[in-house]
This record gives sequence, structure tokens and C-alpha cells, in this order.
Amino acid sequence: MLITLISDPHIAPPGEHPFGVDTRGLFAGALEFQSREKSDLLIITGDLSYRDGDESSYKWIKKQLDDNQTPYRIIGGNHDDSSVLARTFALEDHLHNSIELYYEEKIPGHHLICLDSSVGSLSKLQWSWLEEKLTSERELKKLIFMHHPPTEAAAPYMDKNHAFREIDKFRKLVKKSNCRPAVFCGHYHLEKSLILPEMDVFICPSTFFNLDDKYRDFKVLNNKACYRGVELSEEMLRTSVYYQ
Ligand SMILES: [Fe+2]
Repeated sequence: MLITLISDPHIAPPGEHPFGVDTRGLFAGALEFQSREKSDLLIITGDLSYRDGDESSYKWIKKQLDDNQTPYRIIGGNHDDSSVLARTFALEDHLHNSIELYYEEKIPGHHLICLDSSVGSLSKLQWSWLEEKLTSERELKKLIFMHHPPTEAAAPYMDKNHAFREIDKFRKLVKKSNCRPAVFCGHYHLEKSLILPEMDVFICPSTFFNLDDKYRDFKVLNNKACYRGVELSEEMLRTSVYYQ
């Protein structure tokens, strides 16, 4: 089973190139680039929209994804509107309290848990749901997909200014569940692997811009079509990032 992740495309309106970047071209490039994997499932880990949940950007992404023909899933980021995402991608069944888009899926040997951290935290309802999912069907390896890394990530600018607001709560819940999930996220606009006592966290870089984490301030490292590949088997989980 092969899963590919594309993150933080931040699709701008047609003709608009924020910071001189062709967000549509880079997303389309990443989609084409990852198609060499013959992936079984593609997951977009949030911030589909450049600013704030622009429906026309969502419709454009949906057309690209539908044309690509790899089955895909969507999760929301802090620049998304989960209810507009749900409406555009026909995911209303997974929209909770009209504001949070979260859901699960089971594949042989693995339990995919897709969260909605778009407001930088989780609702009480979503916390209870997550606890239930982490403690059920323990024979399945838990894979969590969420926009925000649920830990600090040795990325000074993002840790200081844009971190998930409930890191301690998340880490305590995961530790208590004792299931050692692999967590896949975006949001930080860089590539990173973090091996923690209670979970492994893998951050997928952005197709819009990536940051250089050697600097404390905002410093762009690259603008490239890129994706993370995740190969799953009974014996191992292998993941790598590729830049075009
Ligand atoms: Fe984000």
C-alpha cells in the first residue's frame, strides 16, 4: 500500500502569484510528479486555499484531483473553511457540528484517522472521538493525518508563531493510549521527521514555499513541486520526501 501526501498548496485566485509564486502550477506539478508512484491513495494535508477557504480554489483543486484519477482524501488547515471544503468535496457526512471535518478509514493492517486542527486546536467532541479511535482495534497500526504538527518541531519561526495550541494535551492522550501512532502533517512549510517517546511525526513540505529552519526568522528555502511518499507493509513503514 502506497500513500502520497501533498501539503499546503495555498491555491491563489487565477492570475494571482503571491510572493511571485505560481501556486497553481506548483500544485499541478506536484500532482503530476507523484503520479510516478502509482499511489493507492493521495492525501492533501491542508491549507488548500491561499487565504481563507476560497470556494473557487477548492473547485479548481477538485478538478485537478478528479482528473488525476488516484483516489484522494482532503483535510483542512488554518487557511481553510471546513464547511466549504465539505460542501465542495461532498464530505458533508464527515462534517461535525457544521465546523469540523474529521473521519476515519480502515485499510488492511492500518487505521487512518484524519483530524481537523484547522482552528489550531480540537473541539471537546473531536478529542473524545480521537480517544475512542486510538483505543479501539489495537491490532491496527494507527496513522493520524492532521494539518498541525502536534509537537514542537525544532523549527523556530513556526514553533514560536504558529504551533498547534494543544500540544501537551495531544501528547498526553497519545501516551495514555499506548498505541504509538505515526502522525503525518503539514503546516510548517518544511520537511521533518520527529521520533518522540510516544509517537513518530512526519511533516510534509509545502508546494507553495518552504522555510529554512536554520533561521529564527521567516526565510524561504525553496519553492518546488514536492510530495511525501509513505509505503506501508506489515513489517515496516517507510517514508521519504521528493522535490522535483
Ligand atoms: Fe497552515
